[in-house]
Amino acid sequence: MTTAADRPSTKLGIVGAGGVGSAMAYAALIRGSAREVVLYDIAAQRAEAEALDIAHGSMFASGTRVTGGGDLEMLRGSDMIVITAGAKQRPGQPRLELAEANVRILEAMLPGLMEQAPDAVYMLVTNPCDVLTVVAQKISGLPSSRILSSGTVLDSSRLRWLISREADVAPSSVHSMIIGEHGDSEFPLWSQANIGQVPVDRWTGPGGEALFTEERKAELAERAMRAAYQVIEGKGSTNYAIGLSGARIAEAVLHGQDAVLPVSTVLDGYHGISGIALSVPSVVGFGGIRTVLEVPMDEREERLLHASAEALSASLSTLGH
Ligand code: 2OP
Repeated sequence: MTTAADRPSTKLGIVGAGGVGSAMAYAALIRGSAREVVLYDIAAQRAEAEALDIAHGSMFASGTRVTGGGDLEMLRGSDMIVITAGAKQRPGQPRLELAEANVRILEAMLPGLMEQAPDAVYMLVTNPCDVLTVVAQKISGLPSSRILSSGTVLDSSRLRWLISREADVAPSSVHSMIIGEHGDSEFPLWSQANIGQVPVDRWTGPGGEALFTEERKAELAERAMRAAYQVIEGKGSTNYAIGLSGARIAEAVLHGQDAVLPVSTVLDGYHGISGIALSVPSVVGFGGIRTVLEVPMDEREERLLHASAEALSASLSTLGH
């Protein structure tokens, strides 16, 4: 992996120095996601201390420079801004219930961020990230290609991990995605899932038995969807995997990787869906989303995609958006 030191200067601004924002800054240092990472929070001392604690490990990681504080000016000229600030789920609380509180925070915050970084790509991580993506696009007036959310990149990673353990292969050799809402109505694209080019439906265990039966697939999908609830129950919030997911997406944007990732963006006529942000496989590179891919879906997946859109549309309409 090349380090940030030998790449053109790229600046990643992370808003919110809580568990998620700090984990993302830490992941960005380790992965070399950007040349410079600024961790901003109104709690200036917290942001400064988190950034300092991360930077103190720099000699073991990439050349990424990490700083933190409470001065909005620190974000000036960022190439990408990631928004992680806001209320987080309580144990058992669906993400959509956070919509009203976090939309208010976003509405208050976004204009000032855009003043500092008018040309940045914006990524929403704060939940419900799909709803906030629609609101951010309306407030900012930016093209939808420059406003995305981490969406189901994290959920897809969770599913790949679950499948990899069943099949006893590396997660990087599992090719599957969860799409739709980053939330309770998400679903795997099982019809396209494969392990090293072997369709999951044809993957067999050591005794030649089919490992991924319909029942097993349903169970894995449920475990991936409920993963955050499980972690939140145990430690109060999630941060490490979402931090890594955000750093991964930032690399695709800042290094112009044109990587296919299931990020969420405001759709325009996608399988008949418009004005709703949902995660579907998209090419992510310089400037944000290059292309939203038309992936083949079976009837059930088509139905689930529209159900996901309806769940989000209901949330948006209660917000008056
Ligand atoms: C997660 O899925 C809470 O949305 C966050 O970990």
